[in-house]
Amino acid sequence: MAFQRLRGFRDITGADALAFERVEAAARAVFGRFGFEEIRIPLLEEKQLFSRALGTETDVVQKEMYEFDDRSGVRVALRPEGTAGVVRAYLENNFDKTHGWTKLYYLGPMFRSERPQAGRLRQFHQIGVEQLGTDSPYADAETVHCLSVFLDEAGASGYAIKLNNLGTFEERQLFRRELEGYFAPLKDRLCEDCRARLGRNVFRLLDCKQEGCRALARSSPPIDGFLTDESRRHHETVLAALGRAGVAVARDPYLVRGLDYYTRTVFEVTHPSLGAQDALGAGGRYDSLVESFGGARAGSVGFAVGLERLVMCLSADGAPAPEPPVFVVTLGPAAAEKGFELVSTLRRAGVRASMEYGAKSMKSQLRAADKHRCRFAVILGDDELAQGVFVMKHFETGEQKTFPLDSIVERCRKQSLTD
Ligand code: HAM
Repeated sequence: MAFQRLRGFRDITGADALAFERVEAAARAVFGRFGFEEIRIPLLEEKQLFSRALGTETDVVQKEMYEFDDRSGVRVALRPEGTAGVVRAYLENNFDKTHGWTKLYYLGPMFRSERPQAGRLRQFHQIGVEQLGTDSPYADAETVHCLSVFLDEAGASGYAIKLNNLGTFEERQLFRRELEGYFAPLKDRLCEDCRARLGRNVFRLLDCKQEGCRALARSSPPIDGFLTDESRRHHETVLAALGRAGVAVARDPYLVRGLDYYTRTVFEVTHPSLGAQDALGAGGRYDSLVESFGGARAGSVGFAVGLERLVMCLSADGAPAPEPPVFVVTLGPAAAEKGFELVSTLRRAGVRASMEYGAKSMKSQLRAADKHRCRFAVILGDDELAQGVFVMKHFETGEQKTFPLDSIVERCRKQSLTD
């Protein structure tokens, strides 16, 4: 029996692989400009790391982690997100002492055992940034600005950024009680999931996608009334700084997030083309996470974008075809040997070159050149070889010219740049 991919896992090929490469290049360029350095964190960590960071009552920890005991009996999990691992690395590498304010970015696969559907996978990819060791509201604004410049340079348009301030954990205690009081008498009108959430984490009710719950949530008391002056000032400064940076954001007093570590600023980017799974990316401030991992208090803020979803939003015609390579067509055994040598030399010289192996007919080799979308071919027969020349054929014009063999690298390089 042939093997098949697991449900929710994908092979990324062809145009998608190219789009991934381009988006990653845009991320590296933009994040570098904003002063972020790359960090590569492990895919596997102690399970405890994620339950402590994300919250034991969250969906991710409760039912979505790929977790198992490793051979030494340690409970481990495939990372469902990047923030927890980055915070561990920040402390373990003493960046809190050596760097102070630390700006890191990461990209790579994440794993959540969710029910697969369009835009929702079990292995997906995130690109994210984290700033650790800063309380400044300007860091929040810089993070959101960085997100929007990255999306623009990746070729996305038509996305919307929503932003809210969730206050500190202390401020949220009062708000939690108020919300529980508001929803308790409405319990019968809530969906089954929300009825269960009511006792566990009432904030998740604000995030329900069911129409009935949504309408009730939109009439619930907003968090604004529970914020201290300091949180309110923080929020206003973030919004004003975003205005200065030219980033359009909409305030949404009902925006909450599915992970528990957020404090104060939270934001989400959505795109209309994504349907039910419309979150392209999300993030916010998490001022207590470093402390909860045993470090000294270090205000932090970051975001992560889902790569599969971002690629879904990019218009197909935004991805130009790959640079056309040179195709080397050979006729006769001696020319075939020389052809292999030429392709090798061209590739080493930085030219994308290709050829067919085996004694194929001219017709079949030209068909292969067409399949590779080549603009021109180098034709080399045993006769040309004996005369020390080669023929260059331009497919579009049909033009054919003969040149000395020793000019081949120079000519192919020139053509591959200008054609
Ligand atoms: P998150 O909202 O859980 O945040 O995920 C961020 C993004 O990852 C989502 O907006 C979505 O695009 C993508 N994503 C999540 N789950 C899936 C899935 N099953 N399939 C496809 N894409 C998915 C975080 O992970 C936080 N660590 C973000 C952050 C960084 N906050 C502060 N710093």
